Amino acid sequence: MVKIITIDGPASVGKSEIAKKLSKRMSAPVLFSGRLYRAVALEVINRKIDLKDEKKITACVAYINENSLNSKKLYSSQIDKVSSQISSIKKLRSKLVSYQKKFPIKYSKTKKYVIIEGRDIGTVIFPKAKYKIFMWASSEIRAKRRALQIAKTKKTPNISQIHKSILARDNRDMTRKTAPLIPAADSYLIDTTFLDIEQTFKTIIKIVK
Ligand code: DC
Repeated sequence: MVKIITIDGPASVGKSEIAKKLSKRMSAPVLFSGRLYRAVALEVINRKIDLKDEKKITACVAYINENSLNSKKLYSSQIDKVSSQISSIKKLRSKLVSYQKKFPIKYSKTKKYVIIEGRDIGTVIFPKAKYKIFMWASSEIRAKRRALQIAKTKKTPNISQIHKSILARDNRDMTRKTAPLIPAADSYLIDTTFLDIEQTFKTIIKIVK
């Protein structure tokens, strides 16, 4: 049976980077579940759907495919905001649950591990996963990490605006009624505020080994 590793945590804590490194080390496929919400958000924007129209928003799940999940357009401040807003829609979440549950099944015969990162993977999607990691860091540090990422793309980051948007996303992620962002009681909680990526990675490798 393929073993599931879940990585949950707030925006810009470094989940994707850790998931990528872990994927390489363990030869494990990764599902970045935030991309599902981002792909729906992109459709909502392109189709000019009203953010209150939950039915039409939920119907956008039908347009998700390999291409849309790998689109470069998924990462913009507008998509950050809209994906966070629509992620509180209960029906949308339940449609995306089945999509996520199918992921390990695809690899059940070929892989030893799969990694899934997001917000509710260890609590709602795979509560019985073998290894559950919850990454945390202060919002100030996360804003700095995000600013550094933006600076690499040669754009000039506005750190106070980034920090504000992180706080708004934290608030939506942690206070929504359906599947809020909280650590599973049996997860490994790693506060990365004072850890760099290598230190965090080493800590996680120790857990999964
Ligand atoms: O991880 P990310 O920043 O790419 O996720 C984008 C948005 O999707 C995030 O603001 C909250 C939502 N999301 C969620 O509600 N549940 C998940 N499992 C993953 C993401």
